[in-house]
Amino acid sequence: MVVGSVLVAGGTGYIGSFTVLALLEADYKVVIVDNLYNSDVEVLNRIELISGKRPAFYNVDITDEAALDKVFQEHPDIDNVIHFAALKAVGESAEIPLEYYRVNVYGSVALLSSMTKHNVTNIVFSSSATVYGDATRFPNMIPIPEHCPIGPTNTYGRTKSTVESVITDHIEAQRMKAKKNGESGEQWNGALLRYFNPCGAHPSGIMGENPLGVPYNLLPLLAQVATGKREKLLVFGDDYASKDGTAIRDYIHVLDLAKGHLVALNYLREKHPGVKAWNLGSGRGSTVFEMIKAFSTAVGRDLAYEVAPRRQGDVLDLTANPTLANKELNWKTELTLEDACVDLWKWTKNNPEGYAQQPPQEFLDA
Ligand code: NAD
Ligand code: WQD
Repeated sequence: MVVGSVLVAGGTGYIGSFTVLALLEADYKVVIVDNLYNSDVEVLNRIELISGKRPAFYNVDITDEAALDKVFQEHPDIDNVIHFAALKAVGESAEIPLEYYRVNVYGSVALLSSMTKHNVTNIVFSSSATVYGDATRFPNMIPIPEHCPIGPTNTYGRTKSTVESVITDHIEAQRMKAKKNGESGEQWNGALLRYFNPCGAHPSGIMGENPLGVPYNLLPLLAQVATGKREKLLVFGDDYASKDGTAIRDYIHVLDLAKGHLVALNYLREKHPGVKAWNLGSGRGSTVFEMIKAFSTAVGRDLAYEVAPRRQGDVLDLTANPTLANKELNWKTELTLEDACVDLWKWTKNNPEGYAQQPPQEFLDA
């Protein structure tokens, strides 16, 4: 029995693909739109190998509203959207800001506009902990609660906080319009999910983050040190005010994160809250040195690193206070950092070229 239909924008990407898997496993019908800018259609085969179900897929750019209209027309049963499609490299966003605003902000406007024409009224949006900027500038805001004032310090983060405002204003306007017509308008809802540091892979070893281009996140870089693609990891600063001098982040397993989307969507459908922001994090901070240790343990040997100067724009501590999601969504992380490291290593070992290679034979025989 299908419980609902979801259009997943950016659904072949890293977090999107795991959320598609969670949705299919929960008996949602899934339609993906993605222009494959940073993903590979092979992920559809992997999703099918794991779940026995295959989502519909359209190669569509979210800035192309007419193409989005067509997809909604072909699938009139779609009543929800989960929106992952975006450019996400912080450094690059400073170099090509217009492209970041075009894809992330204009693309979101086009998606909301097309949804609205087709009376699709629930949206779950991939926001980011980066919208908080440096929360250590306030007293008592670490771990970071949702009411911490937002103040992104980079272009990418500003596109995310702008889209949060766009969604909030649009949903509010649709609710007002409905009320003027004597309706409740309560079908219009938005979840702004602020993820902390997603990591890990599927425990089967056949789904993970597809290494297109040069990674810039800590764990994918460490994985390259482990496979020999990279000589050593540069640790960006050991003079922070933490227990070992390296910066603190809240790493969250992508399987837990995917479940967070499912429960947020269900909450919108059942409770009609309007627009709400939730932190998706574990509430546990880990330093860079702790991460190196955890991943080295998963790999079974020491990994080379060297301390380098701080990276521009980095902050001391981004640890979530996930109490709101724990209480309201009845969601909390279940997997550990150690699980994420073991799963990431299995995926990396099996698929050093990511989705550009066949999955192991045992899966094809199964
Ligand atoms: P990803 O790059 O793997 O996934 C994004 C997907 O969007 C890709 O499949 C890409 O091809 C697609 N896409 C890009 N531009 C598009 C366009 N114009 N039209 C259609 N599709 C387009 O990234 P991810 O890590 O899975 O991130 C998913 C979302 O979560 C993004 O919005 C990102 O900003 C946000 N986020 C990511 C992290 C992280 O560390 N990975 C943390 C917080 C928030
Ligand atoms: C983690 C820690 C680095 C690489 C970024 C985005 C954020 C979100 C998640 C999308 C930091 C240190 C890293 C290296 C290192 N993405 N590090 N050597 O910066 O917390 O967050 O990804 O929304 O917006 O900013 O993640 O993985 O890059 O870094 O020492 O080679 O590892 O300094 O302390 P970050 P990260």
